[in-house]
Amino acid sequence: MQSNRRNFLKLSGLAGLGLVGAPMLKSHAAHSGLNSDHSDHSVNSDRNSDFNMSGYAAPKIDTVRIGFIGLGNRGPGAVKRMSKIDGVEIKALCDLRPDKAAAAKKLLENTSHNPTIYTGNENEWKKVCERNDIDLIYIATPWQLHTPMAVYAMEHGKHAASEVPAAVTIEECWQLVETSEKTKKHCMILENCCYDFFELMTLNMARQGFFGEIVHAEGAYIHHLLEDNFSKDKYYDLWRLKENFRNGNLYPTHGLGPIAQVMNINRGDKMDFLVSVSSNDFMMGNMAKELAEKDSFYKPFENKSFRGNMNTTTIRTNKGKTMMLQHDVTSPRPYSRIHLVSGTKGTAQKYPEPGRISTSHEGWLTEPEFKALEEKYQPPIVKKLGEMAKQIGGHGGMDFLMDWRLIDCLRNGLPLDINVYDAAAWSAIAPLSEKSVASRSNSVDIPDFTSGFWKTNQPVDVFLQKGGNTKVKI
Ligand SMILES: NC(=O)c1ccc[n+]([C@@H]2O[C@H](COP(=O)([O-])OP(=O)(O)OC[C@H]3O[C@@H](n4cnc5c(N)ncnc54)[C@H](O)[C@@H]3O)[C@@H](O)[C@H]2O)c1
Repeated sequence: MQSNRRNFLKLSGLAGLGLVGAPMLKSHAAHSGLNSDHSDHSVNSDRNSDFNMSGYAAPKIDTVRIGFIGLGNRGPGAVKRMSKIDGVEIKALCDLRPDKAAAAKKLLENTSHNPTIYTGNENEWKKVCERNDIDLIYIATPWQLHTPMAVYAMEHGKHAASEVPAAVTIEECWQLVETSEKTKKHCMILENCCYDFFELMTLNMARQGFFGEIVHAEGAYIHHLLEDNFSKDKYYDLWRLKENFRNGNLYPTHGLGPIAQVMNINRGDKMDFLVSVSSNDFMMGNMAKELAEKDSFYKPFENKSFRGNMNTTTIRTNKGKTMMLQHDVTSPRPYSRIHLVSGTKGTAQKYPEPGRISTSHEGWLTEPEFKALEEKYQPPIVKKLGEMAKQIGGHGGMDFLMDWRLIDCLRNGLPLDINVYDAAAWSAIAPLSEKSVASRSNSVDIPDFTSGFWKTNQPVDVFLQKGGNTKVKI
């Protein structure tokens, strides 16, 4: 299996560049802008899986014992949220930097949790994964560490939940899939945007046929992070700025996760191929030069080549539907994750906020009409926990809904809403977009991480059909 998959990697990469079986066309394909020939899909069919993690229910865990790794900007909020969920015990807190680990532990004062701290060197996290009294490793470190940590956790018998993206290379995506299947441990990507209120409502509406056949959807991550990325202390060791030496859509999952669920990706449909185009960089290189003139700290960045500011990636699915994703973290624009669902009978769009719904070309429904739809289509998880989640917070409540649902599924022995195939497929868009951008936007095949099970996998349960009994301490 391993070698078939690795062959697939090589083949699909070449197919994406238009090179398989057509070496003489290489320069033509590279310079003409013509898409490569994708009529031969054999690259997608030479794999078989030992086990299907989609729909897989791991044994119930009454008390989910958690070890957290990475306690910078993002991690501590998760520690706090988890401390409010019944049936959770926080056993370990790990960060390379002692002050970050200590600050996270302070958040748990006056609670029943008394985690051990792991800190001071870059391999301490392994000790957390090696403990035999932990069920779940929750990862909020820089991107390059997500897959090594998740794989090590699963190999040591733990479920893994990784911040976004779960992987940064296609090789890593396969490592996640193969390890999860081999160990039968869950590997969830912590895509909180799948649990935002409007997104959940549109998922429910899609499931009940409101949009008719969904033809097209859009998502984005447009978030002005220019100064933060160059800040000396915002992100550990400027890791996020350094990621911007890569050129493509580096952070696709916030926009993609919700629309992938709406379009039943990996559960009835599959992403087939993508085409990605990037603008030039008009901001980061200039900023690096300006800063380096005043401060030698920035000298290593001054002659670097940075990611094009705006990336637009278009995906076509096996069923002939399209998705458009955008990524821009430098332009001074209002925040947007675009959540657009366009079907044969209706449309939904969020960003600018608030979200809107339409059923014709004549315009958006009025506020009372929208309210009536909200009443009808708000899914049970929101009805049950929405107000509480808003109080507890985390991006307006969506972070809490995500954490609660993860714990509730583990405690009730239910399949996760977001499994390893989603983690791999959604994360894969970044390296595949880089490949397309580097080849004058030629099309690139998207691997079938499900080994063909996408045809029969069941859609995500939006109705809380099972479980839902985990209480919240507030
Ligand atoms: N889903 C969301 O809405 C959302 C929001 C913000 C960040 N994130 C994600 O969360 C992750 C962390 O982002 P952040 O802003 O907190 O970054 P950060 O730099 O503030 O935090 C990362 C932490 O990891 C620690 N770390 C680095 N190497 C380590 C090692 N070997 N062992 C243990 N700890 C180590 C650092 O000391 C740092 O405290 C990223 O993947 C980011 O994309 C997600």
